[in-house]
Amino acid sequence: MMQRLLKEARGALRVAVAPYSGFRVGAAIITKRGRVYRGCNLENPSLMLSMCAEKVAISKALSEGERSFNAIAIVSDKGHLCYPCGSCRQLLWEFAGDIDVLLEGDGGIKRYRLSELMPYPFKKD
Ligand code: THU
Repeated sequence: MMQRLLKEARGALRVAVAPYSGFRVGAAIITKRGRVYRGCNLENPSLMLSMCAEKVAISKALSEGERSFNAIAIVSDKGHLCYPCGSCRQLLWEFAGDIDVLLEGDGGIKRYRLSELMPYPFKKD
């Protein structure tokens, strides 16, 4: 599952739109039923309108009615690991909960639980 999801994230990376930062990101989130949704970063000249790859991936899944997730994989076109930004951690926590987060860089693969990356989350309860 881990390799499959990372491969999907690398596929998403190929269509990233990142002319301003030059930093291309791909993500793939897998549901508990095994369906995969991909996302890439989409930048806009009005920079605040840019979207992260993780946000695109989970938004695609949510808008298809998906509500339960197992893991997300995130890769960039640079050699180092691409940790999700703070707002994506919050978004993932709200809609996916404590899923696995897989990151791949030149040094290999790192696997976290989202709760490790997002301790003491702000949540509805
Ligand atoms: N980016 C992501 O897509 N995901 C992250 O977790 C971190 C940052 C994107 C946003 C922007 O297009 C570029 O990377 C540089 O910040």
